[in-house]
Amino acid sequence: MSILIKNGRVVTADSDSIADIFIEGETVKAIGKDLPMQADEIIDASGKLVFPGGIDPHVHLDMPFMGTFSSDSYETGTRAALFGGTTMVIDFILQKQGASLADALKEWRSRSDNNCVGDYSFHMAVTDFNEDTRKEIKHFVEEEGITSFKTFMAYKGALMIDDRQMVGLMEEVKKQGGLVTVHATNGDMIDYLIAKHRAEGKLSPLYHYLSQPEVTEAEASERFADLANYTGCPGYIVHLTCEGALNAVRNATRRNQNVLVETCIQYLVIDASLYEREDGAKWVMSPPLREKKDQETLWAGINQGLVKVVATDHCPFKWEQKLMGKDDFSKIPNGHPAIENRMELLYSEGVNKGRITLNKFVEVACTNPAKIFGMFPRKGTIAVGSDADIVIFDPAEKHTLSAKAHHMNVDYSAYEGWEISGKVKTVLLRGKVAINDGKCSVDKGFGKFIKRNKVNGII
Ligand code: URP
Ligand code: ZN
Ligand code: ZN
Ligand code: ZN
Repeated sequence: MSILIKNGRVVTADSDSIADIFIEGETVKAIGKDLPMQADEIIDASGKLVFPGGIDPHVHLDMPFMGTFSSDSYETGTRAALFGGTTMVIDFILQKQGASLADALKEWRSRSDNNCVGDYSFHMAVTDFNEDTRKEIKHFVEEEGITSFKTFMAYKGALMIDDRQMVGLMEEVKKQGGLVTVHATNGDMIDYLIAKHRAEGKLSPLYHYLSQPEVTEAEASERFADLANYTGCPGYIVHLTCEGALNAVRNATRRNQNVLVETCIQYLVIDASLYEREDGAKWVMSPPLREKKDQETLWAGINQGLVKVVATDHCPFKWEQKLMGKDDFSKIPNGHPAIENRMELLYSEGVNKGRITLNKFVEVACTNPAKIFGMFPRKGTIAVGSDADIVIFDPAEKHTLSAKAHHMNVDYSAYEGWEISGKVKTVLLRGKVAINDGKCSVDKGFGKFIKRNKVNGII
C-alpha cells in the first residue's frame, strides 16, 4: 500500500516547506516538491499543515490510583489521542511496594497488550528501590526497551521514595544507559499541609491547591537536580508548573547541568482560579494549577529552550469518581483529561496567539519527546526512513471543545466551550490512515508497543 500526500505545508522542528510525501508500507520513502511517484491513494493537503504525529510522553490509562482506575482504557485513550493528532503515548507502570518490577510489567501488559489503537510505550515507576530492584534495571533497559524510570517525591505512603532510594536508583540507571524522571514535589510537606487543612475542617478543592504551594515544587526540583548532578544521572522533571521550580532548573544550568523539563498543556492555559468553582474537583491534579504569572514563565521557558516537552499527564476520572472527594479534597482522585486536546490547544493558544513558532510547536509536542525517550528519528519527525506517523491539520478551522464532541471516556471536558483555531483532519499511523474526517478506521490491537533505545539526557 502506498500513499502520496500532495502539496501540504510540511513542518518539522527545523524545516517548513511546501512538499509532497511518498509513503510505502509503514515508512516515509520520499519527500520533495512535485514527486513523480504513482500511489494507491492520493491525499490533497493543499492549504493544510502537515506535521509529525504527536508524542505524549505522560499519560495514565486504566491506572489503579487513589482507590479507583483512571477512566480511559488503553483502547479509548489511544483512540482519543489519535483524534487529537497524537500517534504515540508513553504510559506509566507502577511497581507495587514489596513486589518486583517484572510483576508490575506483567500486570500492565495484561491491561494494555492488544488493546491499544495508537502506538505506546511505558515508563517504569520505581516505588520501592532495593537490591532486588537494582538488579532488574539492566533487563528493562536492554531487553524490554523501557529506558526511563519514574520516581515520585510525593504521594507519601503510596508511591513516594526517599532520597536514599533516589540516589541508589540514579546510580544504577546511569550505569545502564537510562533516564530518571520525577514527580518533583516535597511529599512530607504536602502530607503535613493536607493533614493540617483537614484538621481545620478546610475540605474544599481550593485546599488541594493550598496544600501544594509553589515552594513544595521548587524545593523538590532543586533537590532532584542536586542528586542528578551528584550521580551524573540524566534527569527529567515531569509536569513542571511554576516559576520557582523553573528557577531551580535555571540554577542547575549555571553549573553546566542539563535537567530536562516537561510541562503540560493545562499549566500553560488554565489557572488556579478554577478551584473556587463549585465543580473545582475537575481540575484537582498534582501539582495543582498555578497562577497566570506562571503561565507566562512557562511559555518563556519553552522559548528559552529550558522547557523541552509539552505533555498532558492525562489521567481522567468521571464526575462520579471525582465525587469520591465531595466532602474531602484529599479523596478526590488526582488528574484531568487532555490527551485529545493537547495538540489543538497548543496550536491555538501557542502558535495562533503568537507565543511560539510552528517549528517550536513540533519540537515540544513531537520531536523532543522522541529524542529524549530514545525513539528518534523513527518517531517524532517526517524524514525518509521514519515511521509514517503524520498529521494533516487545518489551521483555519475553528471549533469548540466539548464533552459532547470528544472521544475520551470521561463525561466532562476540562475545556468545555473553548473556541479554538486549528483542527486535526487526517492522521496516519505507520502509513495507515487512522483518522479521517472525524472517523477512526483502525481498531484496538493496531497500536504497537515501541521498544526504546538507551538515552543519555542529551538531545
Ligand atoms: O494529578 C495527577 N497528576 N495524577 C496522575 C499522577 C501524577 O502525579 O502524575
Ligand atoms: Zn534480562
Ligand atoms: Zn505526577
Ligand atoms: Zn502523571
